[in-house]
Amino acid sequence: MTKLNMKISGLLFLFCILFMMTPAFSLKKSYIVYLGAHSHGGSELTAAKMEEATEAHYQFLASFLGSRERSNDAIIKSYNMNINGFVAMLDEAEAEAISKDPKVVSVFLNKGNTKHTTRSWNFLGIEKDNKALAGSIWEKARYGEDTIIGNLDTGVWPESHSFNDHGLGPIPKKWRGSCQNDTKKGVPCNRKLIGAKYFNAGYKAYAKEMNYTVTVENSARDEDGHGTHTLSTAGGGFVPGASVFGYGKGTAKGGSPKARVAAYKVCWDALPDGGECFDADILDAFDNAITDRVDILSLSLGGDPSDYLNDGIAIGSFHAVQAGIVVVCSAGNSGPADSTVSNIAPWILTVGASTMDREFRSLVVLGNNKTLVGQSLSTKKLSPKKYPLISSIRAPAPNSSASDAQICMIGSLDPKKVKGKVVICLRGGNARVEKGAAAELAGAAGMILCNDEFSGNEIIADAHLLPASHINLKDGLEVFKYVYNTENPVAYITPVKTQTNVVPAPFMASFSSKGPNYITPEILKPDITAPGVSVIASYTQAKAPTGIDIDKRRVQFNVESGTSMSCPHISGVVGLLKTLHPDWSPAAIKSAILTTAKTRDNRLKAMLNSSSEQATPFSYGSGQVRPNRAADPGLVYDLNVTDYLNFMCGAGYTPSQLQGIYTKKLYKCPKTYNISSDLNYPSITVPNLYGSATVTREVKNVGSPGTYKALIHAPPGILVTVKPDTLTFKKKGEVKKFEVTLHDELDGTVKGESSPKVARDYVFGKLSWTDGKHYVRSPIVVKAAAN
Ligand SMILES: *[C@@H]1O[C@H](CO)[C@@H](O)[C@H](O)[C@H]1NC(C)=O
Ligand SMILES: *[C@@H]1O[C@H](CO)[C@@H](O)[C@H](O)[C@H]1NC(C)=O
Ligand SMILES: *[C@@H]1O[C@H](CO)[C@@H](O)[C@H](O)[C@H]1NC(C)=O
Ligand SMILES: *[C@@H]1O[C@H](CO)[C@@H](O)[C@H](O)[C@H]1NC(C)=O
Ligand SMILES: *[C@@H]1O[C@H](CO)[C@@H](O)[C@H](O)[C@H]1NC(C)=O
Ligand SMILES: *[C@@H]1O[C@H](CO)[C@@H](O)[C@H](O)[C@H]1NC(C)=O
Ligand SMILES: *[C@@H]1O[C@H](CO)[C@@H](O)[C@H](O)[C@H]1NC(C)=O
Repeated sequence: MTKLNMKISGLLFLFCILFMMTPAFSLKKSYIVYLGAHSHGGSELTAAKMEEATEAHYQFLASFLGSRERSNDAIIKSYNMNINGFVAMLDEAEAEAISKDPKVVSVFLNKGNTKHTTRSWNFLGIEKDNKALAGSIWEKARYGEDTIIGNLDTGVWPESHSFNDHGLGPIPKKWRGSCQNDTKKGVPCNRKLIGAKYFNAGYKAYAKEMNYTVTVENSARDEDGHGTHTLSTAGGGFVPGASVFGYGKGTAKGGSPKARVAAYKVCWDALPDGGECFDADILDAFDNAITDRVDILSLSLGGDPSDYLNDGIAIGSFHAVQAGIVVVCSAGNSGPADSTVSNIAPWILTVGASTMDREFRSLVVLGNNKTLVGQSLSTKKLSPKKYPLISSIRAPAPNSSASDAQICMIGSLDPKKVKGKVVICLRGGNARVEKGAAAELAGAAGMILCNDEFSGNEIIADAHLLPASHINLKDGLEVFKYVYNTENPVAYITPVKTQTNVVPAPFMASFSSKGPNYITPEILKPDITAPGVSVIASYTQAKAPTGIDIDKRRVQFNVESGTSMSCPHISGVVGLLKTLHPDWSPAAIKSAILTTAKTRDNRLKAMLNSSSEQATPFSYGSGQVRPNRAADPGLVYDLNVTDYLNFMCGAGYTPSQLQGIYTKKLYKCPKTYNISSDLNYPSITVPNLYGSATVTREVKNVGSPGTYKALIHAPPGILVTVKPDTLTFKKKGEVKKFEVTLHDELDGTVKGESSPKVARDYVFGKLSWTDGKHYVRSPIVVKAAAN
């Protein structure tokens, strides 16, 4: 494994050619030089040790650049608490030379990640009529009291009622964090919001090297809304009477309503190339959050899946997990294409997004009286009459193309043609609320937003500027058929009504990123799914709910969709589990959430995807979270730091790289390691099954003594046996090993025959251990390989 990625070597080649042509040429970029773990850290951390660590970074770099002056100029940031490394402006040749030093774990470019942009707790079965259900995890776990949830995002709007500290006791004694409240736009702390810091050195360095002009506020205040939304979903307190524009009224609250929260602002205005949250700042925030002693870190952001030791989120979360912190990340919004899931390291809890059983219904009534069920959160209403209907593709502005008009880009519609009419726009290409703004700006009376083939059945309630309804693909085709085959077509859009107990729910959101895992196909990702469509939570006062300039509205709560919204649901549940089981490892908490998830919807049928076909573990991992069951999982699949290091040996990292990132003892790679069979992950994935294979797992009893039996749902064409198939636990804490053997039934060699074999597609099954009360379930994912 080379320490620099392929792209750099390619660039280096180019660099050499350019260098020969123009000797003075030397393009500096911001690089992260990752040196692993500090030998100091944790409780022994002192100012003197931190200074010493930083001084060592300057000296180390000076030895490459030739002088201390040069290293002074080059270093932008030194990580001197838990994570050992620094950020510096280097050219490719310097980066390459540094990466060869034995002290260096990896050197990689400071790259940009993006954000993965409250009925939900009722839907998840922990409340009813705005009250905690008796015996629910909320009651048992005292609403997550005294758990500390940190959020790496766009910051926080501290005045939001979700961060009110009424009724909360003193701040937990272990806390070392603080709020940066030193400017007019600073963020004051209270007993609920106990930390707020900003990190922008990496963002500014990257903008500078790309010649982008940016203005950044030195404050953790959320000017965007995303961070306030996600943080309040995870740990917001109770806010009675919450609604967006009067819809979805109820008491808003996060998953751990009594948890303390801390905002680490790492995301800034999107740069022209899309980057928002830079690796250099993400690592800085991890370094701080670990030192501040958060219990949980929630990250609703990510980039393309990349090599673990060249990825700020994977490295930062590895250090966090070493410190006992649970790291929860969004899977990404690049679905429904395969292999799009990001944040795939096995020590991360990766979350996909699905719907819930609430809709904000707005009906479309066509001139032929056909009525179609759509969704919206528009505040404006049409007068009760039918309006002329026009397809946007028939109304391009004179200076615009029909394809821009079809998806309703701003400025692409001809006011002469759409004024006073209901205009039909197609999904895709630009933001849904932007299509509404385009229609509003052109003087349309209303908008019907129709799904394209990709988005299928997934319809989303947005706070549109004009009366609007979002309808699914099938209904959209109905509207197009009507408008193209009718003289003087007309339509009406009804005002929004909240509808609950909608079936089927959940189903997978089309945008939710999917497996298989691009880097390590032996690890199933995403791990779990949670509500991420039309989620209501607190919002910033600095921006309109649509985020569009012409929208002058400001709201306390806003509706948003994305795996960004599902991720903090899991972070909130983790908060409860931490309060309930303070001694459980991050992996045990993750196992409890995964093995108790469900794969059926509220009709008790297999969960669907947005085109009404059965979804698979590549969309939902272990299934949809069931918080009450996670409180009492019976058994857990545990993992510790050594296990993760062994996994990295198996993934091809060198012993010296791994020794560098480990805080304790001498580390040695095992002689042989097979990720599918040797990592005690709570799911089983064999991406290349030749004939037959055996994987080992072990489970720890975290409940009362008892006997568990194996229940097998074999994937089609695969014979599954478990040895032993009964596990008896005499006491709590006892660990038992077992083996799962998978036989490809279509492979002749198993039966001693010789039949030709071709590679087949992935097939899915599951293994459950049950004592009659608990069901400890793991997905089985297998792909038979070609010989
Ligand atoms: C935060 O700063 C503001 C203005 O600088 C000040 O009025 C306020 O008291 C500070 N709050 C806290 C909790 O320090
Ligand atoms: C930024 O500007 C400098 C100076 O004009 C130039 O040398 C450099 O190539 C530019 N960088 C990029 C990424 O455009
Ligand atoms: C739904 O699943 C089917 C069958 O696996 C697949 O062909 C289709 O592309 C999926 N649709 C979406 C939107 O994920
Ligand atoms: C649609 O329904 C309205 C009111 O019920 C009725 O007056 C009208 O004739 C119907 N139109 C069609 C095309 O059926
Ligand atoms: C077309 O011209 C109008 C009026 O000048 C302008 O507002 C709009 O942005 C233009 N549209 C495009 C796609 O350039
Ligand atoms: C991790 O667990 C294994 C057993 O599964 C044990 O041998 C090892 O010592 C543990 N490592 C740490 C750091 O606790
Ligand atoms: C790893 O184990 C799996 C399952 O036992 C097996 O299919 C695969 O061939 C093994 N890989 C290697 C490299 O040994």
